[in-house]
Amino acid sequence: MPGCSSHPATSRRPDDANHTIKSLTQCLRGYRAAGLRVGLVPTMGFLHGGHRALINGSVARCDITVASIFVNSTQFGPNEVLDCYPRALEQDHELCRTAGVSLIFVPDASEIYPPGFQTTVEPGPVAEPLCGAERPGHFRGVATVVTKLFNIVQPDLAFFGQKDFKQCAVIRQMVRDLNLPIEIVTVPTVRKPDGLALSSRNSYLSPVDRQRARCLSQGLLAAQAAYGEGERDSERLIAMARAHMSEVDQLQYLQLVDARALEPVPGLVDRPTALCVAAYVGTTRLIDNVLLDIASNSRADLVLAQHRAAS
Ligand code: PAF
Repeated sequence: MPGCSSHPATSRRPDDANHTIKSLTQCLRGYRAAGLRVGLVPTMGFLHGGHRALINGSVARCDITVASIFVNSTQFGPNEVLDCYPRALEQDHELCRTAGVSLIFVPDASEIYPPGFQTTVEPGPVAEPLCGAERPGHFRGVATVVTKLFNIVQPDLAFFGQKDFKQCAVIRQMVRDLNLPIEIVTVPTVRKPDGLALSSRNSYLSPVDRQRARCLSQGLLAAQAAYGEGERDSERLIAMARAHMSEVDQLQYLQLVDARALEPVPGLVDRPTALCVAAYVGTTRLIDNVLLDIASNSRADLVLAQHRAAS
């Protein structure tokens, strides 16, 4: 069967990637018939420690982990160049192999969007706050490709990074609204030792911009620490974070939002919230966030969760 070996799932060689839906589903049929639990880690490649944490999460909870690598054209805006998106397929395969991925799915664009393709998934109002206005159509592209990957792989669980907080909210809402029988797992953001959230986009940063980019996480973590020490005034928490962020070239938003509906939380922080930022450092747009959650409100808990995800 092309791209599918009969070896135990974890011993697959990197060049065994499945390029077609047919070969992938043939592999999966056997695993499912054996009652194995399937986890999906959707990615656009150029994998880093954040993706590794998603894979670790899946390997820990599932018998079979499928990682998809597909640079999805439909989520790119008019100012974002698809061909410039960083790619490193060989290293990606190596990371997948060492992390214990069972099946790698690397479809061609025509496999996902064949000629005549015309149906899309339109997220509701949850896609509007934060970066919705700046990236029109982006979440339609994400919701559409993720739905297709869910239908192709039919995973029991799917893993997404907390760094893309809005994406997680959109996908969770979609799964609820469309009764998709999939558990969505959000994996804590993995950070560099100096706090910068891991992201494929970090590769665009010049050395100087890389240093300046630290101020985003410094601001967020300062606000989170203040929250852990009892600060509950949303204006003060936002101001505290903003005070660190003067080095960015353009602060697109810095908002404290309800962790589920993503609506701004004015006044007192009285429910689980996320402090979310998007900013340009040089020409690179970076996003980051921290959770301010009454149920796990000490910074130590969050740092511990991030540490566990990284290891
Ligand atoms: O987070 C990403 O890398 C992408 O948005 C995703 C979920 C793989 C869909 O293309």
